[in-house]
Amino acid sequence: MRSPVPDYLDEVLQACGGIQGETADYIPELAKVDPSLSAVALSTVDDAHHSAGDAKHRFTIQSMSKPFAYAVAIEHLGWDAVHAKIDVEPSGEAFNEISVDSETGRPHNAMINAGAIATAGLVGSFERFADFASRLAGRELRVDEAVYESEMGSTHRNLALAHLMAAYGIVEDPRDAVERYVRQCSLAVDVRDLSRMAATLANGGVHPETGERIMAERTTRQVLSVMATCGMYDAAGDWLSTVGIPAKSGVSGGIIGVLPGQVGVAVFSPGLDAHGNSARGVEMMRRLSDDMGMHLM
Ligand code: DON
Repeated sequence: MRSPVPDYLDEVLQACGGIQGETADYIPELAKVDPSLSAVALSTVDDAHHSAGDAKHRFTIQSMSKPFAYAVAIEHLGWDAVHAKIDVEPSGEAFNEISVDSETGRPHNAMINAGAIATAGLVGSFERFADFASRLAGRELRVDEAVYESEMGSTHRNLALAHLMAAYGIVEDPRDAVERYVRQCSLAVDVRDLSRMAATLANGGVHPETGERIMAERTTRQVLSVMATCGMYDAAGDWLSTVGIPAKSGVSGGIIGVLPGQVGVAVFSPGLDAHGNSARGVEMMRRLSDDMGMHLM
């Protein structure tokens, strides 16, 4: 007999299976992904795990890396130094907009590309980020080199953002910051990895499986606040009113959500909506939030 949670997750996948979107094509490797893939995973703060669908399918973490890189920067340099370079205000614009202060060049937040490129510059090294993400996932995460090369071949806009911020002293070495950022976006994960990573944020920075403190509780508070207000870009207000939990999407089709004190959630489906968020993933998250009473307000 199957347990009720996987049965319920299967129901969610089936109910949302008809929703279509367009796979991202500005990174040529992402356009090749099978749009019918769908998966969901939950990890609780007491270390229970459930998943359904194509839960073993690996895809690149893309912008879902941004909250974790932000956490590494805060842990590495301290909050004041990070806040001096990256603000915490929603931009209300698309993820790749020139959302920087016109006088100081300071990006509006760490969840948009400008802020994430500045963050990558502050983190110190790609290895520091990869090690942190791997500890959260509970296995060694590796870069999908084909996706990395594919994005590096077309990342003119990110290079332009980095050069603009370099002109203001926000970024020191624009090429290096973008290479690190794109490498961080190219880590291959599945929904089970992502729900585990989200569960440590839900658990105040303590890894639910090992009991190890991976980041300060204050760091998780900062990261979750910015995810809540900025994680879904120009759909952030709609997201907070309908789903009601801090979240972050990625252009590969994943979304992570965090219900503090309770659970980390990850969904995946590669077809995107007009905001660059997974079309099916958004609906899966809405259902999960409604059915499980996850909305924080
Ligand atoms: O910078 C980019 O364009 C990508 N590496 C990441 C963008 C992304 O995931 C946007 N999220 N929905």
